[in-house]
Amino acid sequence: MKRGSFAVLSNEDIAFFKKLLPGRVITDESELLPYNTDWLKTVRGASKVVLRPKTTQEVSDIVKYCYDHNLAVCPQGGNTGLVGGSVPVFDEVVITTQLMNQIISLDQVSGILVCQSGCILEALDHYLSNYELTMPLDLGAKGSCQIGGNVSTNAGGIRLLRYGSLHGNVLGLEVVLPNGEIVDCLTTLRKDNTGYDLKQLFIGAEGTLGIITAVSILCPPQPKSVSVALLGCETFDSILQVFKSSKLYLGEILSAFEFMDSQSMILVKENLKLNSPLVDYPFYALVECSGSNAHHDEEKLMSLLHAVLDKGEALDGCIVTDSAKIKNIWSLRERCAEALMYDGYCYKYDVSLPLSAFYQLVLDMRDRLGANATRVVAYGHVGDGNLHLNITSRQYSKTTFDLIEPFVFEWVAKYRGSISAEHGLGLKKREYIHHSKTPSAVALMAAVKKTIDPKGIMNPYKVLPESILR
Ligand code: FAD
Ligand code: MLT
Ligand code: ZN
Repeated sequence: MKRGSFAVLSNEDIAFFKKLLPGRVITDESELLPYNTDWLKTVRGASKVVLRPKTTQEVSDIVKYCYDHNLAVCPQGGNTGLVGGSVPVFDEVVITTQLMNQIISLDQVSGILVCQSGCILEALDHYLSNYELTMPLDLGAKGSCQIGGNVSTNAGGIRLLRYGSLHGNVLGLEVVLPNGEIVDCLTTLRKDNTGYDLKQLFIGAEGTLGIITAVSILCPPQPKSVSVALLGCETFDSILQVFKSSKLYLGEILSAFEFMDSQSMILVKENLKLNSPLVDYPFYALVECSGSNAHHDEEKLMSLLHAVLDKGEALDGCIVTDSAKIKNIWSLRERCAEALMYDGYCYKYDVSLPLSAFYQLVLDMRDRLGANATRVVAYGHVGDGNLHLNITSRQYSKTTFDLIEPFVFEWVAKYRGSISAEHGLGLKKREYIHHSKTPSAVALMAAVKKTIDPKGIMNPYKVLPESILR
């Protein structure tokens, strides 16, 4: 890749930042390393400076300076992104929101929370639990990812099935534009049809249109009872039958429907030494229900279990209601990403597919790769039509990579799926956007980018293909 024609950081620039953010400018090489390296350890930038603002005004002052001096910027939250979007590609100035972690307000009646963008997702959930509320999203990276990063990636996760996407739950945003201007759309209203809904542009923009500094989000009541079933199935088609039965039997209390294949279960058992309550099956469904009456909810889940066993949709199953046991079952599914890292290198794909074609991609990939992969495993948010296909090898292999890409994207396009369901495009997938979006849609995205960021300083090399921005 070719570096954009941005300025190179000077001593005067560093002096300006140190004056603006005393004690909050990192320039030491070893301290810079984690900010330059992504969670998957697959991409690494060479930024010479990390800035740690605490306020929106500080973000604005930094970004205005960068704009005026033609310095490229990389916004960073918890750095748990999986597509190479959160780390610099060359020497972009990293602006981390890690010190922007204040809660601004909570309306306990409506459940509307307003907070700075650097609040960690799990910390927000803990805070809300004091008021019998919860966050409308949850994901395996909850202990590190930040709400600003979640909004910027339009993160999905395990609660999307129940509460819908962030495009619906985020009510307002405060954003610093690439020229440093602060745009205050931080409304706390459920309904507001006054002109274009500008916040939607920044949800899922992966930091290419501005830096989100504060978020207003609608939080549902914390469920009073949670129960989980783990079911073993013979075929992927049975998983789909169980999904249909779960919707019928559980109705509004169904809160998650996830699947794992046997290779994923073997992965977490081998690499993380986790234990499953079931013996080995080709496929597993994890069904969660959350409601307001433990007795009533357990009864419903039990009826589901009996029905799917009677109909032969599942071969075996167990129900847990104790929080430690629930956590144990969720770990099997939520820690797949972590377990893959122990194999060496992970080629990660996150696609949306029609359920009829869902698992065929995995079978085709296994056939295609043969001994060129250590494992080909699949798990995901089957309730949202979102497959996580992961391939590992001891170390990065160009032969393996060339067998996977662009085959995987072409396969998904053939079935009219999406090449990124929830992780975004970042650096790694941007050149493949045309597999999921029409030329006119990509051209309009480029026009939006050029209008909001005419100098292209905001998270360059990410989301949109290089050719369209020239
Ligand atoms: P970062 O990784 O720091 O940044 C992500 C992107 O957003 C980058 O492009 C960055 O430039 C931009 N950005 C960050 N903060 C801001 C800001 N304040 N303003 C503007 N741009 C910003 N994702 C899912 O969707 N569903 C899952 O279930 C899920 N599970 C995961 C499990 C694990 C174990 C891991 C490691 C990751 C998982 N992810 C998942 C991916 C990732 O956690 C999410 O994309 C998350 O939303 C990123 O948040 P972050 O704060 O870490 O952002
Ligand atoms: C998940 O659902 O576990 C995450 O999206 C992470 C992954 O895809 O590995
Ligand atoms: Zn996921």
